[in-house]
Amino acid sequence: MKEKILFFKGFLEQQETVGSVCATSRWAAKAMCEPIAQSKKKPLNILEVGPGTGSVTKEILKHLGPSDSLLLCELNSSFVEHLQKRFLNEADFREKRDRVDIFEGAVQDLTLDRKFDFIVCSLPFLNFPVSLTHEIFRNFAAAGTEECILTFYEYIGFRTLGRNVGPSERRERLIDLSRYYVKLFPVCKSETERVWLNVTPIAVRQLRIGEAKNAIDGIAPAATF
Ligand SMILES: C[S@@+](CC[C@H](N)C(=O)[O-])C[C@H]1O[C@@H](n2cnc3c(N)ncnc32)[C@H](O)[C@@H]1O
Repeated sequence: MKEKILFFKGFLEQQETVGSVCATSRWAAKAMCEPIAQSKKKPLNILEVGPGTGSVTKEILKHLGPSDSLLLCELNSSFVEHLQKRFLNEADFREKRDRVDIFEGAVQDLTLDRKFDFIVCSLPFLNFPVSLTHEIFRNFAAAGTEECILTFYEYIGFRTLGRNVGPSERRERLIDLSRYYVKLFPVCKSETERVWLNVTPIAVRQLRIGEAKNAIDGIAPAATF
C-alpha cells in the first residue's frame, strides 16, 4: 500500500515524467521481461530505464544470473530512495544487489560505458517532444549489442485518443510521434504483445534496436531539423 501511495504521490508531483497513476502489474512486468526470460546468452548486461518503484525490476531480478549485471536509471529521487531500501530490505532484491547499479538522473545524461543485451524502458514517451524520443532511441541503439532487444510499453488507445482530443500542441506532437513510430517500428522489426491485466491495458513493444543502429540515424523526425 505504501508503495502505491509513493507512486501516486510521484505522479502528482511530476505528472509529465512519471506518466502514470500507478505502477505496472506483474503481468505487464512479465511481458516486458519476456526476451530476457527466453535468452540463453550469458553473461547478460541489462539496462532498465524508468524503474519507478521497482515493479519491472523485481521481474528482471528473477532472471539475473550470477555473472549478469543490471543498471537502473531513474530520474525521481523518491523512487531511487525507495529502490535503495528494497535492495536492503527485501530478500529477492538483496540477494542480487552486488550485480546492480543505480544511476539517479535522466537517461539523456547517462554515460553508457558498456554494451547492453537488453534494454527495458518504461519512459512515458507520449509526454516527451518527439525529438527527445528520437534522441533516446538513437542512444539506446548505440548502447546496445548487435542483438540488443528493447522493450517498452504504451497505454492502449492513449496515442490515438491524444491525436484527436485535447490541446492542439499535444495533438500535433502525438501525430508526429505516430509518424515517427511508423518509421521506427519496421526498421526495428517490432513485435507487440497486448497485456489486458494492467491499469490501464498496455501494448508491450519489442524492438530489435541493436540491428537497427544505422537505420535509426536515417529516420529523424522532421522536428529535429
Ligand atoms: C510510467 S513510470 C514507470 C515506472 C515502472 N517502471 C512501472 O512500470 O511501474 C515512468 C518512470 O520513468 C521515470 N523517468 C521519466 N523520465 C525519465 C528520464 N528522462 N530518465 C530516467 N527516468 C525517467 C519516471 O520518474 C518514472 O519512474
